[in-house]
Amino acid sequence: MEIIIRKEDNEDNNKVYMLIKKAFECAEHSDGEEHNLVNRLRKSENYISELSLVALDHGIIVGHIMFTKIVIENRDTKHESLALAPLSVLPDYQNKGIGSKLINEGLKRAKDLGYKSVVVLGSNKYYPRFGFEEALKFGIKAQFEVPSENFMAIELEKNSLQYVNGTVVYAKEFFQ
Ligand SMILES: CC(C)(COP(=O)(O)OP(=O)(O)OC[C@H]1O[C@@H](n2cnc3c(N)ncnc32)[C@H](O)[C@@H]1OP(=O)(O)O)[C@@H](O)C(=O)NCCC(=O)NCCS
Repeated sequence: MEIIIRKEDNEDNNKVYMLIKKAFECAEHSDGEEHNLVNRLRKSENYISELSLVALDHGIIVGHIMFTKIVIENRDTKHESLALAPLSVLPDYQNKGIGSKLINEGLKRAKDLGYKSVVVLGSNKYYPRFGFEEALKFGIKAQFEVPSENFMAIELEKNSLQYVNGTVVYAKEFFQ
C-alpha cells in the first residue's frame, strides 16, 4: 500500500461523500450526517480548500480530512483557529495508519498556511498521539455540552495558545 495525500478536487466530491457515509456507518459516535456536513462546509465562508485532503491508495480515495476556520472568543478578544472535522477512512482501510497520515499532513499544511492552532472533538484515546491535549487546559471550551476530555486542542506553534482562551465558535453549517 502506497498512500498519497493530496488536496481534494471538485471531481472527488461524490467519492468523498460516499466514503464519509461508509466510514461513519459503523462509527460509535455519529449522527449519520457527516457526509452532508462536508457538502455544506465546502460552501461555507469557513471553508479552506487547501485543507480538505484526500488519501489515495493506487488512485482510489480511501480517506479524507477537513479543517475549517473557527473563532475562539471571549468578551474581549477573538482568535482565529481551525477545527479538524470530520476525519474518515474507508472501513477496509482502517487501522493501517491512513488516519494518522491525514492528521499529520493536515497539521503540517495548516501550519505552513500560518494557522496557529487546531481544535478537535473526538476520542481522547486517538488524538493525544498527535499532540492534542484537553482544550480546557488552555482555557478553551466548546459551545455545546461535551465531555471535557474529548474536546482537545493543539498548538501548531509553541505557546500560541498561551494567551488564548474562550469559547469555540464553529461554522454555522455544523448546526444546520
Ligand atoms: C477514526 C479513524 C479516522 C482512524 O483512522 P485509521 O486510519 O483507522 O487510524 P490509524 O490507522 O491512523 O490509527 C489506528 C489506531 O487508532 C485507533 N482508533 C481508530 N479509531 C478509533 C476511534 N474511533 N477511537 C479511538 N481510537 C481509534 C486504533 O485502535 C489504532 O490504535 P493503535 O495504534 O493503538 O493500535 C477511522 O477509524 C474512521 O474513519 N472511523 C470512522 C469514522 C470516525 O469515527 N471518525 C471520527 C474520528 S474522531
